[in-house]
Amino acid sequence: MRKILCIGAGYVGGPTMAVIAKHCPQYEVRVVDMNADRIAAWNSDQLPIYEPGLKDVIDIARGRNLFFLTDETIAEQIDWADIIFVSVNTPTKAFGLGAGRAADLQFWEKTARQILQHATSPKIIIEKSTLPVRTAEAMSHILNTNSIGVQFDVLSNPEFLAEGSAIRDLEEPDRVLIGGHNTPSGQRAIETIVELYANWVPREKIITTNLWSSELSKLVANAFLAQRISSINAISALCEKTEADVEEVAFAIGTDKRIGPHFLRASVGFGGSCFKKDILNLVYICEQQGLPEVAEYWQQVLKMNEYQGARFVANMVHSMFNSLSGKRIALFGAAFKANTSDTRESPALVVCRELLEERADVILCDPHALENARQDLDEQAEKVNFVADPYQAAKGAHAIAILTEWAYFANLDYHQIYNSMAHPAFIFDGRNILDHQALFKLGFNVYPIGKAPLQHFNHGRT
Ligand code: UDX
Ligand code: ADP
Repeated sequence: MRKILCIGAGYVGGPTMAVIAKHCPQYEVRVVDMNADRIAAWNSDQLPIYEPGLKDVIDIARGRNLFFLTDETIAEQIDWADIIFVSVNTPTKAFGLGAGRAADLQFWEKTARQILQHATSPKIIIEKSTLPVRTAEAMSHILNTNSIGVQFDVLSNPEFLAEGSAIRDLEEPDRVLIGGHNTPSGQRAIETIVELYANWVPREKIITTNLWSSELSKLVANAFLAQRISSINAISALCEKTEADVEEVAFAIGTDKRIGPHFLRASVGFGGSCFKKDILNLVYICEQQGLPEVAEYWQQVLKMNEYQGARFVANMVHSMFNSLSGKRIALFGAAFKANTSDTRESPALVVCRELLEERADVILCDPHALENARQDLDEQAEKVNFVADPYQAAKGAHAIAILTEWAYFANLDYHQIYNSMAHPAFIFDGRNILDHQALFKLGFNVYPIGKAPLQHFNHGRT
């Protein structure tokens, strides 16, 4: 029986281990986290993250061959395991060299040292967190310069799941990527992990590469995805100035097989824990390698994303007669995308903060993400009203802004909402999920992304 340990029970570690345990009943999977509240939640019916389908997988495996444990016993767990996944957080460095750009590896390094301290038998160590290229090499050095004579094989196995569809992505991945050293023991370690995934993933979808290619591929995949969004968002700005409709343009270009239809939804901007962090990381690596032009190229993807959020707020201010001070504004959505409770780098919170600067009276509404939003907003949270019911949130509001594409927001009774609002009523659809013509007919002034606004009065706009 294989003994698998995962260190870090977050958005990646929790769902990934649950799916491994579900498909590999012959293996035992233990997940530890230093956050005892998180572990308690994983052991309860109120899982710490909202993710469609996750509860069903947990119900199958938890207590059978999947166990969530606090890190009090980490020494014992490390020694017990023969495969250790490291899935701890790697935020952007907040201080020192590379602050604001490089990855902060303190959690990863701490974990490596814990492994070194407690292991007495050979282990395969798998990097699951997204890390700067060559981190695995550094870890390999830390681990293998030991005097205890224990062999560690360090592999990179980046996770490509997207939140909100994590279970589907894990069950049917486009590919599984495993990078390792081209040495006999490195290759044996790769084969062990290939066999693990082959329990449910077709072999041809399991790609093996060298360590650095695997690490870099994760950063590059995220950079390319984010770049598509910034590209279509840049075009959305042009569409708003002309008579083109960004959805029509996206559809027309997406039919070209070389471009493809996915990830072309213009929006208020991308968020999430990965895109910004990984691009900053890529930019930093390029600069370190003496490639300023390459660094600048990718930096622009982030600049465009910031511009898109700023443009959205500027449009609100301008459309609502250049002042939001004291106006009640209902923000529909706090999560960085639909079907998750995660608010990390959420464009909704960017907009929320800017509206507070404008001294608007902000009501934040979301079906699953209000608690995380409250924490992320920190001391600004006290200036915000958190309301789970959209009808309540919109009551008396001068404007609504759609910031997360929850399907639920598209299916509300906007007639009732319109009647309960202050007039003229404005709606800013930062995700293009609403029926704009229908809203206009109800009396709303409607401002989509990348399309001409529908206004009941002439605003002097060009
Ligand atoms: C991303 C990658 O997709 C995933 O492969 C990687 O493992 C982690 O980072 P995630 O951040 O969870 O996943 O969600 P994703 O679906 O990529 O969305 C990221 C952001 O882009 C969200 O804010 C989303 O709303 C936005 N987005 C996405 C758009 O604005 N337009 C689109 O067309 C697609
Ligand atoms: P991700 O989105 O990458 O999964 P999260 O922040 O959701 O990131 O999860 C990372 C988890 O790793 C957190 O729950 C954190 O408490 C845990 N963690 C970080 N360092 C350690 C450590 N040394 N030992 C155990 N758990 C750790």
